[in-house]
Amino acid sequence: MSVVVLISGRGSNLKALMDAGVPVRAVISNVAGAAGLGYAAAAGVAARTIPHRDFATREAFDQALARAVDDYAPRLVVLAGFMRILTAGFVARYDGRLMNIHPSLLPAFPGLDTHRRALAAGVKVHGCTVHFVTADLDHGPIIVQAAVPVRADDSEQTLAARVLREEHRIYPLAVRWFLDDRLSVSGGIVRVKGGDAQAYFASGA
Ligand code: GRF
Repeated sequence: MSVVVLISGRGSNLKALMDAGVPVRAVISNVAGAAGLGYAAAAGVAARTIPHRDFATREAFDQALARAVDDYAPRLVVLAGFMRILTAGFVARYDGRLMNIHPSLLPAFPGLDTHRRALAAGVKVHGCTVHFVTADLDHGPIIVQAAVPVRADDSEQTLAARVLREEHRIYPLAVRWFLDDRLSVSGGIVRVKGGDAQAYFASGA
């Protein structure tokens, strides 16, 4: 039933997952000293660092990462601010059990600097997306999204903070649905079985 979380930095989504009672077995960072490692350590959860700079190639890093992940035999691998592009081999190895959170309403604004780009585009609604990871960066099947309004006086920081609150709400939901066997994917579309999952799509702003 366990989950391994991969991080690179702050770790606020990791904290939200742990606070929600997600059974996090281990946290692995590609950056030494990532703040999120502290949350793991404080909770007595295994915390490891595998610095990507120690490896000559992306493939070699991903192989070492996969070996570390497999040490914990997780049901689900969760990317939470993990800032490395994973190889197709790594993604295939965890096909259907690798999740990511992205700070935009995909398929709008894949990639970096989503809040700045949303402001520059003048969108009136922004948000976040939890999706299964495929080899196509930020384009995997969408599990859940939350929308927030973009206000006329928003800065990148105020908008990011509004979105982050929603990230912390929907990531634990999506992980719980997976662990409860409520998610199925067909033709690139995720269905959530049972209950009133539809309601979670409403704006939480
Ligand atoms: C979040 O905005 C997440 O959507 C993106 O990276 C950021 C990570 O934040 N993938 P944190 O490390 O979870 O605080």
